Amino acid sequence: MRCPKCLLCLSALLTLLGLKVYIEWTSESQLSKAYPGPQGTLPVLTPASPEPTLPANLSARLGQTGPLASAYWNQQQWRLRALPSGDSTETGGCGAWGAAAAAEIPDFTSYPTDLRRFLLSAACRSFPRWLPEGDSGQVPSCGETDIPYLLLAVKSEPGHFAERQAVRETWGSPAPGIRLLFLLGSPVGEGGPDLGPLVAWESRRYSDLLLWDFLDVPFNETLKDLLLLSWLAHHCPSVSFILQAQDDAFVHTPALLDYLRTLPPSSARVLYLGEVFTQAKPLRKPGGPFYVPGSFFEGDYPAYASGGGYIISGRLAPWLLQAAARVAPFPFNDVYIGLCIRALGLVPRAHRGFLTAWPADRTTDPCTLRDLLLVRPLRPQDSIGLWKHLQDPQLHC
Ligand SMILES: *[C@@H]1O[C@H](CO)[C@@H](O)[C@H](O)[C@H]1NC(C)=O
Ligand SMILES: *[C@@H]1O[C@H](CO)[C@@H](O)[C@H](O)[C@H]1NC(C)=O
Repeated sequence: MRCPKCLLCLSALLTLLGLKVYIEWTSESQLSKAYPGPQGTLPVLTPASPEPTLPANLSARLGQTGPLASAYWNQQQWRLRALPSGDSTETGGCGAWGAAAAAEIPDFTSYPTDLRRFLLSAACRSFPRWLPEGDSGQVPSCGETDIPYLLLAVKSEPGHFAERQAVRETWGSPAPGIRLLFLLGSPVGEGGPDLGPLVAWESRRYSDLLLWDFLDVPFNETLKDLLLLSWLAHHCPSVSFILQAQDDAFVHTPALLDYLRTLPPSSARVLYLGEVFTQAKPLRKPGGPFYVPGSFFEGDYPAYASGGGYIISGRLAPWLLQAAARVAPFPFNDVYIGLCIRALGLVPRAHRGFLTAWPADRTTDPCTLRDLLLVRPLRPQDSIGLWKHLQDPQLHC
C-alpha cells in the first residue's frame, strides 16, 4: 500500500523524536557542567597493569615528542638529568636551580608572588623534622609486627586543631591495620601567631604529627608528599597502601578497606587511585586560582588523581621518589604526582566513590554518602555527625 501522507507523518514524528532526544541530551550535559565533580571519574583505559620502570630519558614518557615548546618547564624537563640533591645555594645546589629559573624566565617578575617563591625554592626538598625544644617528638616507626595495611597520611596545617581532632575521632580512629599520621610544615609561620607550644603539646599527646621545618603554604604541599615518602622508606617500608588526603576530607574507611581487599594483586601492586582528571589543561587567567603562565608550562596535564585524596600502593613509594628526582618541579602537587606516575609508565585508576569537590550545599545525608569512599570538603562537626550515623546499626537506607 502506498501512503505518502503516512510517510510524511512518520518522518515528522521521527524528526520530533530526534529533536526531543537531542534537547534532553544537551540539557543533561549542561546540568552536569554545573557540577563537575564526578565528571572526571570516568574510568581510564588501564593497560594490563604494567610494572613501574624509569627509563634514562623521560622525554617520550612525558609527552615531549613533537617540536619542543619554549616554556621553561618544558625546556627544563627536556634537559634535566636529575635535580640537585644538595641543599645549598652554591653552584649546583637546590637554590641555584631557582635562581636560574628566575634569571631565565623572561617575564618572571610578572609571575604571582606565590609562584615566584615556589620556583625559587622548588628544587629544595630535604628539610629537617621540626621538633619542639627539649622533646624527642617521636613518631613511632612501624614495628615488625604492626605493619599497617593502610596508612592514613593527612595533610594538615598547624592551626587546624579541630580538623585533626575530628579525623582522630572518626575515620582515622584506631582500627586493625590502620595507622594515622598528620603531615605538617613548621608551626612557626611567617607573621602569624607562634603555634609551636600548642603543636608541641599535641605532638606529645598523640604522637601522630610528622612536622618538617618548612613554611606550611599551599605551594609547599609537594614537600609533604615527598618527605612522607622518604620517611616511609626508613620507618615503614612495608606498608601496603597509603592514602594521602586533606584534613577536610571524610573517608569511609571500612568501605575503602573492603574495596582495597577485593583488588586483584596485579592492580594492587601499582595502585594510584582517586578522582581522576584526564583532560585538564593549565588555567591561563592571571589572578585566577591555579594560574599557570604560558612562559612556564605548555601542553596538557597528565591524567592525575585529585590531591584532595588519593591512594598509592606502598611499593610505589621508592619509585615515586626516584621519579621526582628527575621530573622538573611543578607548582601543583597533584599534577606533579601525576607527572611522576606518568614518568614511571603507570596510569591512574579512577573510582566514582572519590568526590573531592563536594559542593558545600550538598547533603551530608548518611544514605547518600554511604557508598562513597572519600568526600571533601566537610566541616569537622559534619564529619563527626556523619561518622556516628554510619556506625549506627539502625541505619536503614
Ligand atoms: C632525550 O631524548 C631526546 C630524543 O628523543 C633528546 O633530544 C634529548 O636530548 C634527550 N634528553 C636527555 C636528558 O638525554
Ligand atoms: C616553602 O618553604 C620554604 C622553606 O621554609 C620556603 O623557603 C619557601 O619560600 C616556601 N615556599 C613558598 C611558596 O612560600
